[in-house]
Amino acid sequence: MKTGIYAGSFDPITLGHIDIIERASKMVDLLLICVMYNPNKKSPLFEIEQRLDLIRQSLTHVNNIKIEKHSGLLVEYAKKTQATINVRGLRTLTDFEYEMQMAQINKTLYDEMETIFLISNPKYSFISSSGVRELVIFNGKIDNFVPKIVLEAIHQITRKKR
Ligand code: COA
Repeated sequence: MKTGIYAGSFDPITLGHIDIIERASKMVDLLLICVMYNPNKKSPLFEIEQRLDLIRQSLTHVNNIKIEKHSGLLVEYAKKTQATINVRGLRTLTDFEYEMQMAQINKTLYDEMETIFLISNPKYSFISSSGVRELVIFNGKIDNFVPKIVLEAIHQITRKKR
């Protein structure tokens, strides 16, 4: 069985992530969506459990996925789950430089795991979770950035703050 991982902070999951997940899920038997703790990212919009929930609700149409969380190294999670493919989305050249370094570090730590890159669909290549978070702070329109269920969850937060 071929198991892949698509990891990220997913705060929140965006249409760009969904596109990568839909495509990657066709390439493996099981795709693990792993919400990871990124120590560089402070002031989350959603707590980890809410992110898991929003991912679950946004991806009911994809069958061969499992949604989990992990805090620690990605390679430890890969070893634990026997995943051998690490899926990453590439939006820009800047992504590539950063991702190449990460892929090489991960390969050094765990030779059995291969990182594969999916080029993001151009209609989503400008989207990032921090872009969404910033738009939320300044009441910008995010309808074209996130799934409906995330949009509703964000509206709930902003209504509570008013
Ligand atoms: N569509 C839309 N947005 C995308 C995207 C796509 N296809 N691909 C990436 N992004 C966004 C992400 O949402 C993220 O946005 P943000 O910075 O605004 O939150 C940004 O691009 C960067 O993505 P990514 O590099 O995946 O960051 P991340 O925080 O989501 O995930 C981890 C990074 C958690 C996977 C990575 O840090 C990790 O593996 N950590 C574990 C520790 C470890 O093993 N480190 C390796 C050895 S040093």
